[in-house]
Amino acid sequence: MNTPELGLPMAVPAEGLPARVRIHEVGARDGLQNEKAVVPVEVKAEFIRRLAGTGLTTIEATSFVHPKWVPQLADAEDLYPAVAGLPVSLPVLVPNERGLDRALALGARRVAVFASATESFAKANLNRTVDEALAMFEPVVRRAKAEDVHVRGYLSMCFGDPWEGAVPVPRVVKVCRALLDMGCDELSLGDTIGVATPGHVTALLTALTEAGVPVSALAVHFHDTYGQALSNTLAALQRGVATVDASAGGLGGCPYAKSATGNLATEDLVWMLQGLGIDTGVDLGRLVATSVWMAAHLGRPSPSRTVRALSHQEQ
Ligand code: HMG
Ligand code: MG
Repeated sequence: MNTPELGLPMAVPAEGLPARVRIHEVGARDGLQNEKAVVPVEVKAEFIRRLAGTGLTTIEATSFVHPKWVPQLADAEDLYPAVAGLPVSLPVLVPNERGLDRALALGARRVAVFASATESFAKANLNRTVDEALAMFEPVVRRAKAEDVHVRGYLSMCFGDPWEGAVPVPRVVKVCRALLDMGCDELSLGDTIGVATPGHVTALLTALTEAGVPVSALAVHFHDTYGQALSNTLAALQRGVATVDASAGGLGGCPYAKSATGNLATEDLVWMLQGLGIDTGVDLGRLVATSVWMAAHLGRPSPSRTVRALSHQEQ
């Protein structure tokens, strides 16, 4: 137990949790891809620079997808070089070989493919069936690994889907196995529309462990639609997951999933982890200042409770 500083929770460790958590920051990609207005490339670059200044070490920068599908990230060729020199990892999303070519041409060293556990979202997001999407990723992963590029495999709709309802655990396990067998280094389990609850998270992680998926290869990616993201994160930490996706200020959503709202806010996550005595390397004060700065650019307050509490934003 330590003495609390102003603006920080008192650290009271709990048993059975990882000593350190790596935060995979997705605000610049998952957050900004969902903004109605396109954020100018200079603002995005400054956002990423400020995020890097908070101690975050993995900052997802953008996506090399079809510009008509996600116009908000159509400036990837301008943005990536503007931030490439920062001393942090800057993963980028690539749906296919065309995306990989674009990313590799700019020197990207970490890429992410993004699969779906459901047919409806695979169609809406990638214009493919689940199997066709996996076939599209196979050469991407093979070529990336041949160049020693780190590959994350996202899996969306791991818990529920806006068109199909609840998603059976065995179906999620099957697509996870396919992504790992293809050569993905890491899997991020996405609750795209935020419907998961902690028991469901535990059940999925147990099933994945039983299917031989090492917990060290897993990350969790919670959206906070129903206010469950932090509880779900704690359930995942209790199962040994030590990589957590979050979005500064709680920015986010998904343009191809109607009911998706913002991701788990990075500030809310850091507050909880600091309270549990878990090391993240992130300076919470700087992070809050970054989200307040970004909120001013977007013209609305951050939905993060921690940002509001620490910045005394008007509600
Ligand atoms: P498609 O229309 O089927 O594309 O879209 P295609 O393969 O038929 O190609 C058509 C044309 O697009 C071709 O040009 C290609 O060259 C071009 P043409 O020969 O006709 O002149 N093209 C591209 N151009 C630039 N960059 C590319 C690219 N690929 C093809 N990479 C496609 C298929 C996958 C491209 C499209 O569906 C797409 O871009 N989808 C991306 C959707 C997306 O980014 N969604 C958000 C990210 S996922 C997410 O947010 C969930 C996550 O956060 C986790 C969670 O919360 O669950 C990760
Ligand atoms: Mg997401």
